[in-house]
Amino acid sequence: MEVVDNQIYDKVSNTWWNEDGFMAILRTAVNPPRFNYFQKILNELQLNPKQLRVLDVGCGGGLLSEQFAALGCQVTGIDQSVPSLDAAKAHASAMDLQIEYLQGNAERLPFPDQSFDVVCCCDVLEHLDSVDTVIQELSRVLKPGGLFFFDTINRTLASRLFVVKLAQDCVLTRFVPRNVHVWEKFIKPHELASTLRQFSFPQSSFVGLAPRSNPFPALVAFARRKFGQISFAELGENIRLQESKSLAISYMGFSVKAL
Ligand SMILES: C[S@@+](CC[C@H](N)C(=O)[O-])C[C@H]1O[C@@H](n2cnc3c(N)ncnc32)[C@H](O)[C@@H]1O
Repeated sequence: MEVVDNQIYDKVSNTWWNEDGFMAILRTAVNPPRFNYFQKILNELQLNPKQLRVLDVGCGGGLLSEQFAALGCQVTGIDQSVPSLDAAKAHASAMDLQIEYLQGNAERLPFPDQSFDVVCCCDVLEHLDSVDTVIQELSRVLKPGGLFFFDTINRTLASRLFVVKLAQDCVLTRFVPRNVHVWEKFIKPHELASTLRQFSFPQSSFVGLAPRSNPFPALVAFARRKFGQISFAELGENIRLQESKSLAISYMGFSVKAL
């Protein structure tokens, strides 16, 4: 099996918040729909954001940390990439947001048991050496009844074609560096549900995160990006994902830790 290139986040750290780097796709295509979903769940559970201590595991440049902080949550972000954390700190400061950013490994979270009300681990599970170890750790630091939010990529033929072959491997179509994703590391929802059950999350909810049904604007945007006519941020806006019944490629969800 090929190895996921997690060093890439050191090299592209200046692109989390700019228009033209490839992390802009995560910011403009993925972050808005997943945060809308997380916010909807917080509302449904009648949780007051101002009373929540949130941990963002694998926070990168702080895309989600900032959204939770803007809601009024007390946020800590942890990541192994120092350059990404530097970008996150600089951006939070420019936005006048108070967020604690720490360098560390998701497999050994430097927090006491039951410290957080919410833990999110988004677009990270498919990058890890040991998903079990990280879920065990984040369950440990979550309070009983606390919420775990996630999004990740399903291991299907569709994800192999779109996320690995077309987006990353094929010279004609690729727009993501090689080995950002390794297909064998993708996780089927039932596998994640089973790991979560093992570590005190008896039930999980899953929804798809998929492109709009009309693929035409996205295909035009891919071509325009190939010819340098639009930025990565504009590409992301054109392929903006949305909540979907199809879990065939990406999915997100939440689990509540047992009391
Ligand atoms: C695709 S990025 C996702 C960033 C952020 N969660 C988001 O969705 O905007 C994956 C992040 O996970 C971090 N990461 C990967 N493995 C990690 C580990 N074992 N411990 C801490 N961070 C890790 C990487 O450095 C990178 O910033």
